[in-house]
Amino acid sequence: MMENGGLQQTAAGWIRRATRVAVLTGAGISAESGIPTFRDNNGLWRNFRAEDLATPQAFARDPRLVWEWYNWRRSLIAQAEPNAGHQALVALEQTKPGFTLITQNVDGLHARAGSRDPLLLHGDIWTLRCTRCGVAVEDHRANLDPLPPVCGCGAMQRPGVVWFGESLPAEVWRKAEQAARSAEVLLVVGTSALVYPAAGLIQVAQQAGAKTIEVNAAETPVSGQVDCSLRGRSGEILPRLLE
Ligand code: APR
Repeated sequence: MMENGGLQQTAAGWIRRATRVAVLTGAGISAESGIPTFRDNNGLWRNFRAEDLATPQAFARDPRLVWEWYNWRRSLIAQAEPNAGHQALVALEQTKPGFTLITQNVDGLHARAGSRDPLLLHGDIWTLRCTRCGVAVEDHRANLDPLPPVCGCGAMQRPGVVWFGESLPAEVWRKAEQAARSAEVLLVVGTSALVYPAAGLIQVAQQAGAKTIEVNAAETPVSGQVDCSLRGRSGEILPRLLE
């Protein structure tokens, strides 16, 4: 196996020569901005996993607990800045006629870095959606009070994110699939590739003949399937890979 250097040169060549590039990111790209990932070093909050809280059932059972978790995440994200990995993707976007950024992250850091139109597969943590009238509002307060927040119609609001067992926004998913299917290169950054349908985009791209490149600090279930798996931190690898 070539060490990163040789692999990196090869991957950089694929990206340089491509006109249509798709990127799929996960929580790992925001780790160097100080935002904990879901599954690294047990990624727990008060001993809860994301799977325990990010579900309609958990919210129905204890909306206040779920909101305390989101409030904690909102306050961390409010103090975070996009890092060199986010910025490298913004620079790449400027050079590619066909570029699509697809993210599982709800932290909004890609948009804050300057990415033009990231496809938010799992929604946006700064959006609150009414559980009764469905009205969605942007609310960037780091600390919502009281919890749970209440809509103008009087009903409780929920986070505007996609929970386990819920379907992804149809139009966003259609665009993401389309991008994965037509990409010449799919760059997969900072995701454990465990959560579907997002992780399925890797296979969609591969089956359509794209070169697939992974950037991850650790091995994942797709490391052996992609054409090139670069080990390391995205904040360090992406600027070099995309320079
Ligand atoms: N650079 C690159 N990769 C990193 C870094 C880093 N600095 N730090 C961590 N990683 C990698 C980890 O090795 C892991 O593979 O980021 C990945 C983070 O995995 P998860 O915590 O599972 O996050 P993600 O893949 O985005 O989760 C997918 O699960 O909980 C749901 O909806 C939630 O969108 C989320 C989805």
